[in-house]
Amino acid sequence: MKISLAANSALLNPDFTFGVATASFQIEGAADSRLPCIWDTFCAEPGRIKDGSNGLIACDHINRWREDIELIAALGVDAYRFSIAWGRVINVDGTVNQAGLDFYLQLLDALKVRGIKAFVTLYHWDLPQYLQDSGGWLNRATAYKFAEYADLISKAFADRVYSYATLNEPFCSAYLSYEAGIHAPGMQNRKQGRQVAHHLLLAHGLAMQVLQQNAPQALNGIVLNFSPCHPASNSDADIRAARMADQYHNQWYIQPLMEGCYPALLQQLPLSEQPDIATGDMDIIARPLDFLGVNYYTRTVYRDNGKGWFSDVPPTAPPLTDMGWEIYPAGLTEILLDINQRYQLPPVYITENGAAMPDSLQQGQVQDKERVAYFQQHLQAVENAINAGMRIDGYFAWSLMDNFEWAEGYAKRFGIVYVDYTTQQRTLKTSAIALRDCFASRQVNDQKIANK
Ligand code: FCB
Repeated sequence: MKISLAANSALLNPDFTFGVATASFQIEGAADSRLPCIWDTFCAEPGRIKDGSNGLIACDHINRWREDIELIAALGVDAYRFSIAWGRVINVDGTVNQAGLDFYLQLLDALKVRGIKAFVTLYHWDLPQYLQDSGGWLNRATAYKFAEYADLISKAFADRVYSYATLNEPFCSAYLSYEAGIHAPGMQNRKQGRQVAHHLLLAHGLAMQVLQQNAPQALNGIVLNFSPCHPASNSDADIRAARMADQYHNQWYIQPLMEGCYPALLQQLPLSEQPDIATGDMDIIARPLDFLGVNYYTRTVYRDNGKGWFSDVPPTAPPLTDMGWEIYPAGLTEILLDINQRYQLPPVYITENGAAMPDSLQQGQVQDKERVAYFQQHLQAVENAINAGMRIDGYFAWSLMDNFEWAEGYAKRFGIVYVDYTTQQRTLKTSAIALRDCFASRQVNDQKIANK
């Protein structure tokens, strides 16, 4: 099974960056050498994680990072996106944890030696529990703590980092964590969700100032997730519901960054559900970005819920992934062109895209044909957006390897590398081989051009 792009595809241009992505809590393990985080607490609460698992060992990446770096290098990627566990590098008193810092310094140096660009995410959801104990993201002070963390880390990493993302998917840390209650810390309260979203965006803006000062050579930005919102029917009510959902779930995060204001839907919320916004916050949030990371998995269909709000209609018809998410590649082109038309965007990278599939290891192989097809279709969707005139500088597959998929535990596998959790053995799936060959075809392509 191959992934093939047109010979003149913009994705084969030497300047286009291909990478793989992971996140600290999902792969690292070695929980005893960092502070507890909100996901440790959440995992310990019965019923929160589908398979009752936790992140104590995960992929044991802290002990196996050398092997994992070799794996990444062997894929022939240009870049590796990973996140820093805040509680591994900063102590409760705010000082640096040198052992934790050294882990990431080694990793960064190993990437540099291999010519792989480091795309570092500062916050991929693992808030230290001691900060949660003083209010977490509901407490405005956490935004300032985040900027201090960004300051210490960006100074310590010096020029090793190609790109910093402040936050990964604030939608998840706000909505899924404080309104839907399915992510840590598992609250269900709209006012809290809106307040947390605001404090996260504030944290991003404060950290951007720090990064631009400490690491002006790096590409500094943020990673947002998008899902096009489609109406369940042609009725005015459903169309209106889908538009509201788009404002609430997509524009809520990008519009403040690009235009310094929230979508008009904010005014329609009762005052008791609107976030408290201090004077000057929106200017901090709207500081210019060097890049925008876009994560895309699927589209979402909405209907009017009869109470002036929207509710989603889960897909039932195939093709679906193992998460039950509809495979809908056109949605990636749609959302890219949509934001490109609405806003003055900085260069965009697709920072996550991939699919969970019911993989099985048989005779040393994982033949994940559906995942290969998923990548083929979504790379094509990126190319279509570029061909329509949009600037997109890179694409990261989620994920390097199977890992802890949050509330789903280890049952859902998103990796292009299979992880046997009893032995921690890593096996390249067919999709990893297909991507590797696709990346390698670029050299052949460059050679052809050079020989002409
Ligand atoms: C994204 C997360 C990532 C992973 C994928 C499947 O929302 O950023 O950690 O769980 O979904």
